[in-house]
Amino acid sequence: MAEKNPYDLAGDAATQLNETLGEKAGAHKAALVLGSGWANALSELGEQTAEVEAHTLPGFIAPTVAGHGSKILSIDTGDNKVMVFQGRTHLYEGHSGVDVTHGVRTAWAAGCEVIILTNASGGVNPDYEPGQPVLISDHINMTGTSPLAGPAPPKELGIRFVDLSEAYSKRLRELTKEIAPDLTEGVYAGFMGPHYETPAEVQMAKTMGADMVGMSTVLECIAARYLKLEVLGISLVTNMAAGVSDELLDHEDVLAVGKQSSKRVGTILNGVINRL
Ligand code: HPA
Repeated sequence: MAEKNPYDLAGDAATQLNETLGEKAGAHKAALVLGSGWANALSELGEQTAEVEAHTLPGFIAPTVAGHGSKILSIDTGDNKVMVFQGRTHLYEGHSGVDVTHGVRTAWAAGCEVIILTNASGGVNPDYEPGQPVLISDHINMTGTSPLAGPAPPKELGIRFVDLSEAYSKRLRELTKEIAPDLTEGVYAGFMGPHYETPAEVQMAKTMGADMVGMSTVLECIAARYLKLEVLGISLVTNMAAGVSDELLDHEDVLAVGKQSSKRVGTILNGVINRL
């Protein structure tokens, strides 16, 4: 039997997901992907009403990195409901661009219209400080791949040459700044990892226009825009990128800074989701 295309597979996952969460398709207006160390945002987000282990759904792969859970939660934010992907699959785990974007297609198939992508990053812009959240205004895809590479998507979804002129929704950025006026915007360069960048690579990213470097988000954003989901990206700068400060990079520090700072972003996200 021929393998299912990724969109049909996501449809299967979404049907089971909505059933398990006890919700109809479209009940969750938004999906939220929580990045490394963002777990503390959860307590501020709202009331959890249901959860499912992601890898029990068709097409989801169990993650391997410490600090990345694998649950999908249904959270009532007060005026809305959000589907929260706790943890994500990364390219550096050896998976493909299609694999790491299964959650995005599942959120779309489950009826979400907005996807909020969060991550941890290294600050390239010297004005940034560890612990600072930054709205992603645009990205540079340094992974060398695309979630749209491979067999052509089903005809009814349209051609895969998707426009990325406004990959990260201006409307959602403005809405977020109404709630948190001090937030700045920056460009996120997504590398494959899992190694951190060399100082020379960080310098290259800076020259290309990046304010932050990280190992996720860019492929999810592309997959989401193909499906016409509106994307909000928020990056928590957990450290200064290699060579920007004298400090060496340590994964435990990255998680710890995320833990300390993500509570505030949880409150901001609650406000944004309620106003969608
Ligand atoms: N580089 C890449 N990814 C990261 C970093 C970094 O400095 N910090 C947190 N995630």
